[in-house]
Amino acid sequence: MNQAADHASPLAPEWLAVPGDLNELQEPLWAAGVEKNASGEVTVDGLSVSELKEQFGTPLFVMSESDFRSRARAFKHAFDAAFADICGGVDVYYAGKSFLCTAVASWVAEEGLRLDTCSGGELAVAARAGIDGSNLGLHGNNKSDAEINRALDMSLGRIVVDSLDELERVAKIASSRGEVAKVMLRLTPGVHAHTHEFIATAHEDQKFGLSMAEDSTEEAGLSAAEEAVAAATSYASVELLGLHCHIGSQIFEPDGFAVAAEKLLGFLAAMQAKYSIVMPELDLGGGYGIAYTPVDTPRPPAEIAEAMAAVVRSTCAELNITPPRISIEPGRAIVGSTTFTLYEVGTLKTVRVDAPAGDEGQENVTYPRRYVSVDGGMSDNARPVLYDADYSAILASRDSDAAPQLSRVVGKHCESGDIVVRDVYLPADVAAGDLLAVPGTGAYCWALSSNYNYLARPGVVAVRDGAARLIVRGETEEDLLNRDMGVANV
Ligand code: LLP
Repeated sequence: MNQAADHASPLAPEWLAVPGDLNELQEPLWAAGVEKNASGEVTVDGLSVSELKEQFGTPLFVMSESDFRSRARAFKHAFDAAFADICGGVDVYYAGKSFLCTAVASWVAEEGLRLDTCSGGELAVAARAGIDGSNLGLHGNNKSDAEINRALDMSLGRIVVDSLDELERVAKIASSRGEVAKVMLRLTPGVHAHTHEFIATAHEDQKFGLSMAEDSTEEAGLSAAEEAVAAATSYASVELLGLHCHIGSQIFEPDGFAVAAEKLLGFLAAMQAKYSIVMPELDLGGGYGIAYTPVDTPRPPAEIAEAMAAVVRSTCAELNITPPRISIEPGRAIVGSTTFTLYEVGTLKTVRVDAPAGDEGQENVTYPRRYVSVDGGMSDNARPVLYDADYSAILASRDSDAAPQLSRVVGKHCESGDIVVRDVYLPADVAAGDLLAVPGTGAYCWALSSNYNYLARPGVVAVRDGAARLIVRGETEEDLLNRDMGVANV
């Protein structure tokens, strides 16, 4: 095969290598059960992408149910095992914001996980799926009274309170109902993790959480976090379960989690002593990274769990406190890699691009970049536009012997920034009608999807034991016009 590294384009980012074999599914981007069949087609549990396209059309989110379940179980088992001697195990709350529908909510419950929600809408999905309120948490920096009431209606296991204001509102609402709200306090420990490193600062300049900085309130010496603890213990309508933090997303190294755990445990111990209370729970949030491209190196859940457990164990011993029950909230690391998006290729064009700056002696040289347009785009995956996120792609409907060509997979929206995969080597003979698969689209893609340009949002299909079923149907043109009140109303 003609796929030597001399096909490398100077336009490609440094991290992007020319794959040894363009037809090969690169680890660890794909769900277990995704393979290539004898005719070179991508299959999920034996179902080929052409069969899926035939039955459901494109674009389409294709999720492996068994992979979802096994990733959910892997987190639960790994953290339970690592923390068994510390606090008898860990409560794993799947972060529904990453991707949620009733089927997924029910898998989560069946696998022994709980569910983290962050809006009344997500609570509605949980209710529709029949999830018991005691297994639900509610987040949000601006919960409405209606959402707080709904949480109380459903007897939620925990409301994660984000501010002093909200604490007062939750206490008032619960009191007016003659109930006691179960509350965690979300703190901002000043630890920010960015994939391969973390930074620790004293102050938090962001909308979420209660600051732990001592000058964060007008009352000198008392942090907003401490004020909240003091207030929470004074309200008869509030049961203070404990503390919570979430330090970021797409994090690979466990160090940031460890520093945050240390900081929160120190605070928890100090508050327990000062206010003569016991806070039995500590939630260390989500944020575990996944592979979007071959250079991403996620850690197995067991490795993260053990690193975190070691810190919790030693810190609690140093502080001489009974370890609180630990919980975590992974979203992306459970659902992200379970899913790929299937697109059909349409228009192709190649442009010549100037040599990158600094390419000495090549000032007058240009290089080809091929634009491969697909039938979706930023409406089904906003992450490249929003976060400069990188993805990968493979020709999914056939094998090819053609040479690798640096390509940019773009959508069909009226925006030049409508990029699905910024840089990827695809076979030079990719043509209209071919199918492309983009892996790693399970988290924050469907969840962030829009109807920009009146595109219908794609459906989500779950494959299990060789059978596919729609878990969310794709929108129709009728759906698109459903809320349009019509000319007569103007
Ligand atoms: N817990 C809390 C309080 C959170 O805010 C989040 C994510 C999670 C858990 C789950 O984090 P995960 O394990 O999925 O990283 N749209 C962005 C990510 C936003 C994350 C928001 N919070 C993205 O697509 O990268």
